[in-house]
Amino acid sequence: MKTVDTIKEVREIVNQQKMQGKTVGFVPTMGFLHEGHASLIDKARQQNDFVVVSVFVNPMQFGAGEDLDSYPRDKQHDTQLCQEHGADLVFFAQVDDMYKKGFCSYVDMDILTKELCGLSRPVHFRGVCTVVNKLFNIVTPNRAYFGKKDAQQLAVIKRMVLDLNMNVEVVGCPIVRESDGLAKSSRNIYLSAEERKAALVLSQAIKIGMEQVKGGETDCKKILDKMKQHIENEPLAKIDYVKAVDCDTMQQVAEIKQPVLFAMAVYIGSTRLIDNFYTEDV
Ligand code: PAF
Repeated sequence: MKTVDTIKEVREIVNQQKMQGKTVGFVPTMGFLHEGHASLIDKARQQNDFVVVSVFVNPMQFGAGEDLDSYPRDKQHDTQLCQEHGADLVFFAQVDDMYKKGFCSYVDMDILTKELCGLSRPVHFRGVCTVVNKLFNIVTPNRAYFGKKDAQQLAVIKRMVLDLNMNVEVVGCPIVRESDGLAKSSRNIYLSAEERKAALVLSQAIKIGMEQVKGGETDCKKILDKMKQHIENEPLAKIDYVKAVDCDTMQQVAEIKQPVLFAMAVYIGSTRLIDNFYTEDV
């Protein structure tokens, strides 16, 4: 496995692979890798000849007052995890290489980004779309892998690829959870012991929602009310949103007629966590 930190090196190495007819799988990350990321690398490893992982805490997708400076970083651990899961190349992208002096080109999206996380993080998806577009241009992957935990991000990237005719297959991979149910996230490190316990209300509410769907309930409000009630019983939890939306458009739906995404963002203390389920996975 090679590690590089310039766009130039990534291009040279990937070009060599492509000239030999190899397919390229790509896992873009912000580092501080955990088993969720490992599952994406594993999937990329199964489906491609050459696997690239990028590690870049992208300043553009953090709003004012968000956790850009405190976002956890651990290059040594990330390198080791990538090695253990069979990545071929790890790209530790640098801010001044990614955003050259005078940078002023952006990829923006309407509709899908105006709901859910987009409401409380208004600049977030512009930053995500711009950096993912840039990374796709640098790595030129055949396939790119994203976790379903960030369900809105996955929908946004699929839409961007479709709208802008990008030549890459976007693969969504299942949420990976701790043994007690908490969805794996680099931000779980922020939780105190007490908050870590309280954070279980998210996955418990997901379970409650799934049971309702399994039991045949189709009224989204009834399901959402039960999920919210459970979260509201936890004093350390503050709901940002708990919503039912169309899986592709991210627009709210009242009834389960076609596949629906139940998604939530909840503050546990000052840490904002997300979780979700798709009715089609129930
Ligand atoms: O999901 C993430 O870690 C980031 O949003 C991504 C896709 C790597 C873009 O910075």
